[in-house]
Amino acid sequence: MEYTTDYKIKNFTQVPDQDSINHLIHKALEFKSKPFKNQSIGKNKTLVLLFFNPSLRTRLSSQKAAFNLGMSVIDLNATEGWKIEYTDQMIMNSDKAEHIREAAQVISQYADIIGIRSFPSLTDKEKDYSDHIINRFIEFASVPVISLESAIRHPLQSLADVITINEHKKTHRPKVVLSWTPHPKPLPQAVPNSFVEWINLSDVDLVITHPKGYELAPQFTGNTPIIYDQESAFENADFIYAKNWSSFSNYGQIISPKSDWMITQKKMNLTNDAYFMHCLPVRRNVVVEDTVLDGKKSLVIQQSENRIYATQAVLHQLLSSANSL
Ligand code: CP
Repeated sequence: MEYTTDYKIKNFTQVPDQDSINHLIHKALEFKSKPFKNQSIGKNKTLVLLFFNPSLRTRLSSQKAAFNLGMSVIDLNATEGWKIEYTDQMIMNSDKAEHIREAAQVISQYADIIGIRSFPSLTDKEKDYSDHIINRFIEFASVPVISLESAIRHPLQSLADVITINEHKKTHRPKVVLSWTPHPKPLPQAVPNSFVEWINLSDVDLVITHPKGYELAPQFTGNTPIIYDQESAFENADFIYAKNWSSFSNYGQIISPKSDWMITQKKMNLTNDAYFMHCLPVRRNVVVEDTVLDGKKSLVIQQSENRIYATQAVLHQLLSSANSL
């Protein structure tokens, strides 16, 4: 696998280019075989994690990745109580007691790398797609910032997914199908946006399938084929990546529940004995049938494990980039 040895990054919020994918996959797989091989690089370095919404996998895999590199971790749960003002020149007499200008600079005094997890409003498309929370942190932080999922992207999940596909693919260019699935709550488009962004720079043939009205933002899908018939999209697929997302055009809405879009074993039988993937958490027998999730072709636990090595590769890259700047 080719990769660029002197590849440097300042922040990590999205996939930069194809070279970086190959480089990060290579690095992550090295860490997977030898997790503690670079423990000195994180000595006396601190990762501060800020979560503005709940997380199991991202929280724990980020901590584990940092520990593997010898870093210390401060994990701040900012889901309630602590509200930041992101807009300039505001008269701050509402419930927001702290401005991003101070908050990002203050956290930078305690951190060598800052990880931010935020969610979209799902009501204000323009604001969400400006990714203003993570971008304002980057604007005012004096240390590197890593996205633990932003309003519109989940790059660490996508890197783990690309690693997982690389480990399991049986042909040079497997067919990967991103399938919309039902869900009772409106969910962000961050995971599918990122997945398309990363997969389109990888050696795979990507097809997206969803009901009409659930088209993702064109800036992410580009020329990716979209098939509105789920069963025909599944034919000859090597990987089925299931995910719900709310509508982009009717922003943040569930425009129709479409419970018949659940992933079933019958639908998986149409594929080329495909692997099943999902970023988790997943609602059983709403998104996917038990039989598929518990079956031998399910990769969901391997994806979660690879979150550690994806994050470790990115943290290592940030630390070594900072050392050589
Ligand atoms: N896949 C993922 O990001 O999971 P968490 O929301 O639990 O972090």
